[in-house]
This record gives sequence, structure tokens and C-alpha cells, in this order.
Amino acid sequence: MTTPAEFARRRQQLMRAIARESGRDAVAVFPSAREVVRNGDVHHQFRQESTFWYLTGFAEPDAVLVLRPGADHPVAMFVRPHDPVMAVWVGPRAGVDGTVEQYGADAAHPIEELDSLLPRMLAGARTVYYAFGADAVLDTLVTRAVAERRDMAQRGPAAIEAVRDPSALVDSQRLVKSAAEVRALQHAIDITGEGLQVALAATRPGMHEYEVQAVLEQEYRRLGSPREGFPTIAASGENSCTLHYVDNRRQIGQRDLMLLDTGAEWEYYSADVTRTYPASGKFTAAQRAAYDIVLASQEAGIAKTAPGVAFHAVHQASLRVIVEGLIDLKVLRGSVDSLIEREAYRPYYMHSTSHWLGLDVHDVGRYRTDGKSTTLAPGMVLTVEPGLYFAPGSKAPKRLQGIGIRIEDDVLVTPSGRRNLTGRIPKTPEALEALVGSAAR
Ligand code: GLY
Ligand code: MN
Ligand code: MN
Repeated sequence: MTTPAEFARRRQQLMRAIARESGRDAVAVFPSAREVVRNGDVHHQFRQESTFWYLTGFAEPDAVLVLRPGADHPVAMFVRPHDPVMAVWVGPRAGVDGTVEQYGADAAHPIEELDSLLPRMLAGARTVYYAFGADAVLDTLVTRAVAERRDMAQRGPAAIEAVRDPSALVDSQRLVKSAAEVRALQHAIDITGEGLQVALAATRPGMHEYEVQAVLEQEYRRLGSPREGFPTIAASGENSCTLHYVDNRRQIGQRDLMLLDTGAEWEYYSADVTRTYPASGKFTAAQRAAYDIVLASQEAGIAKTAPGVAFHAVHQASLRVIVEGLIDLKVLRGSVDSLIEREAYRPYYMHSTSHWLGLDVHDVGRYRTDGKSTTLAPGMVLTVEPGLYFAPGSKAPKRLQGIGIRIEDDVLVTPSGRRNLTGRIPKTPEALEALVGSAAR
């Protein structure tokens, strides 16, 4: 479990960065997620907004965090107070006292008091850090507080001079994972690996995609993961050519490939792993040829991942192998460089190779700064996930049509190079063929 000390360290790190940028009289305000109605009286399952959770570990809706680096008591939270009726219907809340005792806030207040207390908390601030546009109610409160200060400025405290978006500071902090974050992510990945092994072993032609999904996600639940980090993609046959296919309703055919793109969540960190395998337990020659190319491309991308390397260089390393493979398969003709230059590969490889991974599956963090690709540094975690997709009706040779392959691992940049956090999850053709369908019926 992430300790209260870890959350406190994150807040302190952020407050130091805020003070460096804007002075100690800056104030930062962060809203939690809100509950969202699904239909009738039913809400979507609540998941805390990732940055709010990152800074607090507090998993309830209708909460606000106020950080004041220059104050004697810099951490204040507004929360839903204890409510005996709601406790009967949906369970207890941390409440005002619990928020101080369990979540390390210096002070906590009922959320109903935000309206009257926020202007007071902003009283000495010259800079307010707040990300407009995510929470309309809080947007109005912050706007009003800024306007009041301006109106009072002639006789009272000076006006607020700047409202800055905290996202750049928070996101660059979230981009570099602490040891505790890497442990949580590794646990999410280990659960995902267990789920994949059980699902591959259970797969047989004739099952439906949703049955494989159910086996996978039952293993996640059995191992304590509360939910997936994103909807599971369980794509058989030509569905594997649809990048974000989530219907998962089709019956799996005898000669189909099966593509599972999935990630269990643990402590809000999401794994993101893709394995593609023959449902029958044996690749056809065409499937195997395409698989070998994607695997070689993925290994080239992983090998390129290291501190000091540009984020984009991982994609370039993977892409080169994909294009060489497309020439070998007689899908493309010409020189590798000119095919890359003309983006001739795009009908068959249309996404990029990597994204940041963390609390969000497509995690925060810049990919470019001032037009330059971000330089990889220890603590960053990225996916390496090249693919080849030969959709029916594409210009690919008939023998390849209906084949979609993606192989996705999660890689931590370390001081000496990289650690493949997903390295124990089978992916060689031999390992996959041995595993698929091996569970007792
Ligand atoms: N699972 C979504 C992705 O791989 O980016
Ligand atoms: Mn991914
Ligand atoms: Mn994925």
C-alpha cells in the first residue's frame, strides 16, 4: 500500500516546485472527480481523478485539496462530512476528522464551507495554481475569488496577479516514478501477467471473445485488482485489426489470431500489456511471418530505451524493423528510408510505438518540449507496442488479410538502461504455442 508518508512527499515536492516558480505566497487548488450518473438512480463506478489521488490517496468524490507552500499548515482539504443516513445506504465517509487523521491534511473542512473559506485561503496569494475547465462549480468559485480580490485591491490585500495551470508541474512530477510507484505498477503488471497466462491457457476456438475476457478479468479480481485501467480489448480474427475494439462479442474461429490488450489496476496504477496468439495453439505460416516481424520490431524498440535517448527514437527503431518486414513480406517495395519518409507503412502500422504509463494508461507527461522530443530519464515508464494490421479489403496480399498483431510491454528507464517490467509474460512464438489451450478442460 502506498503509505501516508509517500503522499506527503509528493505534496512537498510539488509545493517546492510551486514556490520555486512563483514564490511561497502561491496557492494551488485541486478538485476531486465527481460522481457521474449512468442511468436512472445508478452512478458509474467512482474512480478518483488521478492527480487528486496522487496527491492525497483520498478516494471520495466532492473533495478539494488546497496547498499553500508558505502557510504554517500548508495542506487543507474540503470533504463530504460524516452523514449517518448516507452511511446506511452507501457506507461511511472519512469525514472531516478522518481526513486529518488518515490522509495527513493539516486541516479539513466540510465541502459546504468551500465557498466561504476559499477566498480567505487565497487572501495572501499573488499566484493561484488552478486548472480551469475540469470542474465547472470550482471554476466559478475560483473566478469569484480572483474577482473579489481585484475589487478589494485598492484598500485590501493586493490583487491576484496570475492564475497558472498546475498541470505542467504536476505532470512532469508524475512522469518520473518514485520507487513506491514502480512497486505498485509492477504489482499491477504481475497481476496482468497472471491473468494473461490463465486466459491464454483457457483459450480454445469456439469460445467467444467475452469468455476469454471473463477468464482474464476473473483472475484480476481473484488477485485483488479492483478494476481494469481501460476496457479490455479481446479481439479475434479480423477484429484484431481494429485498434480499440471493445465489443468482444465474436465467436473465435479455428484459424484465428487472438489479440488481448489489457491492464489490471493496482493502487490506481495501470498495466498495459498486449499479447497476440493463435487460438488453436499453432500459428499459420502467414501469421508466424508477421508475428516474427512485430516481435523483432518490439525488441528493437525495447533495446533502444535508455536514459539520454529521445522518446521518439524508440518509435524510429521499432518502425525501421516494421518497414523492413513489410518489404520482406512483399507488402511494400522500395528503400526503407524512402518508405519511412513517405509514410508508406501507415495503412499497416498507423499508431505510434510508445506512450507514458502510470496512474493513467495514457499517462500525463510531455512528449515534446519546445519542439524537441522528450529525453528519457530514469523513473519514466513507457510502453513499447508496435503492431501490424492487415485489414480485410486492404492492399495487403490476401494471405495476410485479417491478421492483426500487436505486442506490448511496459518498460522502466533505469540509470543503466531499462527494465522490462513485463519481461516475465510469455511472448515468444514457442512459449505462446506451448501455453495456449493448455488448461485442463
Ligand atoms: N491499451 C491502449 C493502448 O495500448 O494504448
Ligand atoms: Mn498502450
Ligand atoms: Mn494496450
